[in-house]
Amino acid sequence: MEGDFRKALKSDLPLLREISAALAEAPGKRIRPNMLFLASRSTGGSPEKASVAALAVELIHTATLLHDDILDGHMTRRGKATVYARWGSDAAMIMGDFLYSRAFSCLGEAGLDDVIGVLAKVTNLMSIGELIQLQHRKDINVSEDGYMELIYRKTASLFAAASECGALTGSRSESHRSEFASFGENIGLAFQITDDLLDFIAADVEIGKPVASDFTEGRVTLPFISAFRNAPEKTRERVSELFHGGFDGDEHWNEVVSFVRKYGGIEYSLRKARELGEKAKNALSPVSPSLERDALCFAADYIVQRISPFAA
Ligand code: IPE
Ligand code: IPE
Ligand code: MG
Ligand code: MG
Repeated sequence: MEGDFRKALKSDLPLLREISAALAEAPGKRIRPNMLFLASRSTGGSPEKASVAALAVELIHTATLLHDDILDGHMTRRGKATVYARWGSDAAMIMGDFLYSRAFSCLGEAGLDDVIGVLAKVTNLMSIGELIQLQHRKDINVSEDGYMELIYRKTASLFAAASECGALTGSRSESHRSEFASFGENIGLAFQITDDLLDFIAADVEIGKPVASDFTEGRVTLPFISAFRNAPEKTRERVSELFHGGFDGDEHWNEVVSFVRKYGGIEYSLRKARELGEKAKNALSPVSPSLERDALCFAADYIVQRISPFAA
């Protein structure tokens, strides 16, 4: 898949070549393709088909990151300058579109019509997710249900699709398509919750992208939502003031983080992520045991455990 990824971005156009080289230099964790390959192998899948499907998923994921960094105005990702920072928003936007369309042209060439069906639906859901997020910018009253719906669309839907598409490439009569979709969805929800936790408790250098960004840019996430509903009125008023423009520098950021810790936001979000990880693993119980299934369950644990070094 790595080779195909580079090939898919090959071009004679100098700008495209430059941006592709930058993307190849900072590949990311590749968690979605790995999930897809494992789901495929758990169901006796064809490695060739799985490889094209995994490539498409990673191209789509990369496209959403390019667009997301424009929306958030972020300068770093994967420890490097973002495409937005280096080439500007026009180039990042067009490059994102190029990656999206490349994903579908690769699937079309390989004749993977059923995978196209799943991924077309998901890219639509993801863009609606980003739109909802935009609509709720500066809204401090987002509910936990609203948040869960949002992260399902913007993140978990692609995880679900990656896992489901793995099963779709399988050859066994019982492909357990819906079980894999449910596994991916729950792991995806847990993944976004831990990403949102990292925004509060990690440092830029540790995760290679800006932290302290969700709250300061007007996006409330589960750690904050759950703390906010537990806090007394006076404290709520104070953080509300910070949220609506009174925010300035490290001191205020420390105040927000202490608030989230004090009112149980970190603990609650961790518990929720753990529960979703367990739900993901349970979804795979009807699937015949295999090394690959074990590895997927291990991934569900890892997604929550990646927080431990920061959560102390
Ligand atoms: C980042 O995804 C976007 C979220 C859904 C939180 P990843 O953390 O998988 O990004 P890379 O590909 O490893 O950089
Ligand atoms: C995930 O959310 C973005 C997408 C699914 C495109 P975030 O905005 O939290 O992702 P990061 O933190 O920028 O990677
Ligand atoms: Mg972002
Ligand atoms: Mg984030």
